[in-house]
Amino acid sequence: MTHNAQRTTPDGSHGPQHIAIVMDGNGRWATKRFLPRLAGHRQGVESLRRCVRACVARGVRVLTVFAFSSENWNRPPDEVSGLMELMGKALVREVPQLTKDGVRLRFVGERAGLSAGMRAALEQAEAATAANVRMTLNVCFNYGGRWDIAQAAATLAARGEPITEASLHGAMGMSHVPDPDLLIRTGGEKRISNFLLWQAAYSELYFSDRLWPDFDEAALDAAIADYAARERRFGLTSEQLQPAQPDPLRA
Ligand code: IPE
Ligand code: IPE
Ligand code: MG
Repeated sequence: MTHNAQRTTPDGSHGPQHIAIVMDGNGRWATKRFLPRLAGHRQGVESLRRCVRACVARGVRVLTVFAFSSENWNRPPDEVSGLMELMGKALVREVPQLTKDGVRLRFVGERAGLSAGMRAALEQAEAATAANVRMTLNVCFNYGGRWDIAQAAATLAARGEPITEASLHGAMGMSHVPDPDLLIRTGGEKRISNFLLWQAAYSELYFSDRLWPDFDEAALDAAIADYAARERRFGLTSEQLQPAQPDPLRA
């Protein structure tokens, strides 16, 4: 392992500013316990609450979580409606504590596909937390990376604006935050599943075998420590990243 300017310290002082998480494994967590899948999702909300608190405590500035994908509509109808109900209830319940913790909520995803009541609840939660500045929590809900790229291109085309990397980035759902430094997927699968396709271009990937309800503070710290030991090169060579050495002849 080489020392360089990009490396972060194990104590987290230069830890990831933006963590993104595919919260996977709720269903298996429940099935292992002979419980309905929805019980796993309920436990998943608890795990998210714990994770948010932990990230705030560790100075993370942005946490982005995948809560419901464009493809999750194809699950059994009772699971879909259960997930919608769970989200609706969590919104009402969690907003006061999020505000206490200084967390700003943003929802990223296709709102047109949601019920009018759900849309109103999302807007209300965003408005209620809009002044909070400690950490931004992006909840990707009815979200797909392909949807985001396509809607951004459509928006630019409708405005008659040129399509460039910068303009696309600006028209996408995550334009209000820097790209994720660390992308975690729990639940053991090693795939992106249509999460932040554009924004994860240079994210460090971390896969955990823990099911999302079991992903606790220690598991989060393990992911952050793993990140801290990596060298992010962004296409450069390792040597280019070395901090300038004092020139012995000039010293
Ligand atoms: C992730 O957990 C949560 C959502 C997709 C809403 P899963 O429900 O996918 O859990 P597994 O992968 O079936 O265990
Ligand atoms: C990804 O998990 C979506 C969320 C965590 C919300 P899935 O369980 O839907 O992904 P696949 O189907 O295993 O790829
Ligand atoms: Mg899954």
